[in-house]
Amino acid sequence: MAHKLTPFITAEQIAERNITLGKEITESYKDSEEPLVCICVLKGAFLFFSDIIRCIDRPIEVDFVRLASYGTATSRGEDIVFSKDLEISIEGKDVLVIEDIVDTGHSMDFLLHVLRGRNPKSLKICSLIDKHERREKKVSVDFAGFELSDGFIVGYGLDYAERYRELDGIYELSTE
Ligand code: IMP
Ligand code: MG
Repeated sequence: MAHKLTPFITAEQIAERNITLGKEITESYKDSEEPLVCICVLKGAFLFFSDIIRCIDRPIEVDFVRLASYGTATSRGEDIVFSKDLEISIEGKDVLVIEDIVDTGHSMDFLLHVLRGRNPKSLKICSLIDKHERREKKVSVDFAGFELSDGFIVGYGLDYAERYRELDGIYELSTE
């Protein structure tokens, strides 16, 4: 089945939004002098992460995690594990998790639960896309790039079966 890609968010719109989002994030941490730990959730957030951290005007530290889900479609969220854990300690630090999409919220709920157990000073979420209408877990995104009600999107780091991550805009994927 062939894939049809319909333009959804252009590279220019993303770049503009990143600048305003970066300012919001900078403003929100203005009273703290310690570096903000920015955590990239691999793989989907890698392009957004690399852009947004350059729009945050304050000292930061970067680290990466990768989650793997072994659940089936019906037991979704029950068997999430780290396939790559953080390398730096987050104890007593301000932490910002940077994700591509928060959808049902199962992955983020798991991640927040683990990170909270490591006693950060604060823990917030920045997500390129917030599909809040599909939420099953109570997870709220502190800094959202764009909101989306439904549909499957690819590009700018987001994949369908590992494809399309390299596109510089975001596209809605359908089959024809
Ligand atoms: P959640 O556990 O349902 O919140 O899953 C969120 C994860 O599913 C995201 O981090 C993405 O990796 C993936 N995902 C959800 N919707 C899409 C989409 O439209 N395109 C690409 N990946 C998606
Ligand atoms: Mg993801």
